[in-house]
Amino acid sequence: MSHKKNILCIGAGYVGGPTMAVIALKCPGIRVTVVDINEEKIARWNSDDLPIFEPGLDEIVREVRGRNLFFTTDVFESISQADIIFVSVNTPTKSFGLGAGAAADLQFWEKTAHQIIEHSEGPKIIVEKSTVPVKTAEAMQRILSSNKKGIHFEVISNPEFLAEGSAVQDLLQPDRVLIGSLQTESGRKAAAELVDIYAQWIPRERILTTNLWSSELSKLVANAFLAQRISSINSISPLCEKTQADVGEIARAIGADSRIGTKFLNASVGFGGSCFKKDIMNLVYIARSYELHETAEYWEMVLRINDFQSRRFVNRVIRELFHTLVGKRIALFGFAFKANTGDTRESPAISVARHLLEEHARVVITDPKALENARIDLADVLDRVELEEDPYRAAAGARALLIVTEWDEYRRLDYEKIHASMEKPAFIFDGRNILDHQALHRLGFNVFPIGKPALTHYA
Ligand code: NAD
Ligand code: UGA
Repeated sequence: MSHKKNILCIGAGYVGGPTMAVIALKCPGIRVTVVDINEEKIARWNSDDLPIFEPGLDEIVREVRGRNLFFTTDVFESISQADIIFVSVNTPTKSFGLGAGAAADLQFWEKTAHQIIEHSEGPKIIVEKSTVPVKTAEAMQRILSSNKKGIHFEVISNPEFLAEGSAVQDLLQPDRVLIGSLQTESGRKAAAELVDIYAQWIPRERILTTNLWSSELSKLVANAFLAQRISSINSISPLCEKTQADVGEIARAIGADSRIGTKFLNASVGFGGSCFKKDIMNLVYIARSYELHETAEYWEMVLRINDFQSRRFVNRVIRELFHTLVGKRIALFGFAFKANTGDTRESPAISVARHLLEEHARVVITDPKALENARIDLADVLDRVELEEDPYRAAAGARALLIVTEWDEYRRLDYEKIHASMEKPAFIFDGRNILDHQALHRLGFNVFPIGKPALTHYA
């Protein structure tokens, strides 16, 4: 089948893979290619063992791969054939030099600009899919315009709002798609081309067009607002623990106000994921660079509360287990940063596990999808950590269970059997408030939820 348009995506990660699979599914007339420098990743995208786990993704990839979706490492060929290039490479926090620990590291991003110049023979639309600092398109446009071949590249912004674990659903039915372009004739034309692609399955009123800089900044601000809600409710959780209030009841009461809304009010051991922290640090860095110190400090507090919350969680474990964890087996239920993904980037489980090891606890970790990544994250301490697929075996002989990821299966375990296999007194610290705390208490557990009264068998 010959295709009317060729789309290329540079970067076959958590965003590039699923996003392109859905475009290929919904736009059979478009040939979609995804390229990555990581050969092993591309080999897995071309196999039955995809490099990422996302509910519903396997089925879509199986349907479209080889039809109009292709994964390759051939950067040269794929750039030269593309009409539209999505850049979806990683933009992590800079770990060295100016802005280390705060600014976005744009080295992968810039490299793609040079690759595009080198391998292009004609005009192309370049779509910023990665999350980037506001004004990145200006730099990209400047690099691309420096090409000696006289080729016109139009850079537009199309940030991605999918969440891991629900990526396919989010892509099929997004709340909105955002497209930002320069308000020039060629800018508007490029934006309209992208609108036409998304309009093949998304209602037009959900496709928002705006100027480039508003689009770039909206992405950082969206993540900052989402994270801020979690830090806001988490900041209230210790106050609940001191006053016998229940953070779940507070979320219910305030969430009923339609101006506040119910979502993202689950108190937890802290938010994780590859983006909230890095994007807020980036926002803070940008604000500081414009000398907007109050703006910077305001958003910085969202991160401080998040660190406070995960540290507080472990401190409570230490305190309740009689101020020493030495030699005690502690089972972490969950290592992924959230349920329904194997991704562990910035997972609160990493810092929780490391703090427990600092206290010389014997740490055992179970997770349905994330043990492969846990092995990498904890490579330097693996001799002191046990990774166990079966939660029952993980719990056996443990003094305490720590619920770190909100996997549904943890709600359905046989906690009577688990209690019988544990050292006594047995403790559960529910870092996600997903279990039936009263029922666990009746089974004999000492139960410590987040932001709710503890249920213990001692005064
Ligand atoms: P990722 O690390 O999973 O994937 C990025 C991929 O880009 C990697 O496979 C890497 O090998 C590849 N790459 C880097 N340089 C390359 C080059 N020059 N040529 C070809 N391939 C190259 O990252 P991700 O999670 O998909 O995130 C990508 C971007 O999207 C980031 O800016 C992130 O902030 C943003 N984002 C992520 C999510 C998410 O849920 N993960 C959601 C929305 C936005
Ligand atoms: C988040 C945003 O939700 C996406 O819109 C955005 O595209 C993405 O970041 C990104 O830019 O990378 P993601 O990190 O995949 O998506 O997952 P979320 O569902 O937002 O969860 C983030 C963290 O917050 C998880 O650790 C989750 O467990 C935690 N969380 C979430 C809470 O602790 N409480 C809540 O009420 C909600």
